[in-house]
Amino acid sequence: MSSDEDVAAVSRHSYFIGKKENIIQARRVVKSVGERDVLVIYHKGDFYAIDVRCYHSGGPLQEGDIEKDFDGRTCLVCPWHKYKITLAEGEGLYQAVDPSVKPLKPTWCSKGIKQRVHTVTVSNEDVFLTLNNSPGPIDSDYYQTEKYRNTFLKE
Ligand code: FES
Repeated sequence: MSSDEDVAAVSRHSYFIGKKENIIQARRVVKSVGERDVLVIYHKGDFYAIDVRCYHSGGPLQEGDIEKDFDGRTCLVCPWHKYKITLAEGEGLYQAVDPSVKPLKPTWCSKGIKQRVHTVTVSNEDVFLTLNNSPGPIDSDYYQTEKYRNTFLKE
């Protein structure tokens, strides 16, 4: 895993992240892209990109496990407090029970989009990232401020 300084912008919102084979081999890379720090993941044939600091309290998602036990949805599990974040959408998931239904049966529910995800494209063996600049706020935006951008990536 690497933490690089700003990567070069290919166009206004598209950034070269690295060679495809290198990212596949690394499985995870953290890049400073424009004003954001982004975790790029290669998992089971697909690339994903997601804000690197957890929306809950800024935990290092690059150290999180990837699991698929949440109604079949693939999640990144934050190493700090085990919040589950869907890899593709950035949804925060939680488990709930309906006390009126017996026997009690926990089900996975969504809190909505909590972690900003970005778009990864591959062209000629090169991997590019396009930042998701949709109007916010999304909770993970808070940890992309200068105060937090100096934490753990530069250690
Ligand atoms: Fe990620 Fe708390 S910081 S679950």
